[in-house]
Amino acid sequence: MKILGIETTCDETSVSIVEDGKHVLSNIIATSIDLHIKTGGIIPEQAARRQIESMIPVLNEAIVAAFPKEPTTNHQQLISNHIDSIAVAYGPGLIGSLLVGVETAKTLSYVLNKPLIPVNHLIAHIYANWIEPLADYRLQSTENAVASSQRAISFPALALVVSGGHTDLVFMKSHTDIEWISGTRDDAAGEAFDKTARLLDFPYPGGIHLSRAADEYISQIPNSQFQELDLFPRPLSEDEKTLDWSFSGLKTAVLREMERAKTIEQLSNETIQQYAAEIQEAIVDSLVDKSLKAAQKYKPKSFIVGGGVSANKRLREKLRNGIDGLRLGIGFFAPEPKYSTDNAAAIATCAFYHNQTKPWQEVDAKPNLTIMGEK
Ligand code: KG4
Ligand code: ZN
Repeated sequence: MKILGIETTCDETSVSIVEDGKHVLSNIIATSIDLHIKTGGIIPEQAARRQIESMIPVLNEAIVAAFPKEPTTNHQQLISNHIDSIAVAYGPGLIGSLLVGVETAKTLSYVLNKPLIPVNHLIAHIYANWIEPLADYRLQSTENAVASSQRAISFPALALVVSGGHTDLVFMKSHTDIEWISGTRDDAAGEAFDKTARLLDFPYPGGIHLSRAADEYISQIPNSQFQELDLFPRPLSEDEKTLDWSFSGLKTAVLREMERAKTIEQLSNETIQQYAAEIQEAIVDSLVDKSLKAAQKYKPKSFIVGGGVSANKRLREKLRNGIDGLRLGIGFFAPEPKYSTDNAAAIATCAFYHNQTKPWQEVDAKPNLTIMGEK
């Protein structure tokens, strides 16, 4: 079964064709990041305009890339002949951006008479883990975590979704039986990365630049000193009663520390890198701490992480080591970094397992969708 997925929730325009919920035949992503670097953040109107312009070219490219042996003059015919369903991320996200993908998917469904599958973008982040081939480090996982015969995700699973706007932990008894466990009380983990990165004057998108600087700093200090990075608070980590997170205090703490030090222009490159490492450590430790507590409580067979922040190397390492260290035989799964951030392959993969088709008349963009659906 081949599903064509569309993802336009934020600043990407992505189309992908995925076979049987695991084989990516194509995954094309256009971003408008060049515009946002200039403004230091996303201007929704600009992102949506660019997405309208990119949608058809990206769609064409995805179809041509998926079927390289077919004549490429008639793209509609290719979709008609080869695609079983159209899937689209219908929320959460920016309304103008969402509308581009949703209306395109509805049009394809209507004109080509294909079933339409609306997909929750946050759930799709989890499903990036079903994409094959397996990410390398998964195969390197220590013997306690995943026996080689057991490298497939099995239920029940705990899934941590860490994106730019959301931080949620859910318990999956099956593909369709999903229970919300905890989330952030204020900023999302990605937001914490981005906002603090801005304070340190890193260019947009901050998270990735901050994490690069942090990794560089960490690579220069001896292994034993890794643990000593604890300049910034890990709110709620002492509170045994909750598995929630809180990240909003981090910005203030970083700002105070910077004021205490010097003005940004005077801070040396090494100090900036050190702050970056301390910030990354505070966010990662918070995420890992509650994840491990949840794993001990729920004893899942698999622990899954997804969303843009799951591209973070330090988070993957600490989560994997932490989960392995529990010695509960829990398999740890994180997507290939290119499938951590927004992409349509995850949408098409998710649609395969949540094959809930809807008439196009009933599919609407939902900017405020939560991981558990509409409020
Ligand atoms: O899932 P995503 O691509 O888009 C949303 O759904 O929001 O997540 C984007 C978030 C941004 O906050 C970005 O800074 C963060 O993921 N991010 C990272 C890294 N790569 C992306 N944060 C930390 N380390 C990274 N390597
Ligand atoms: Zn996302």
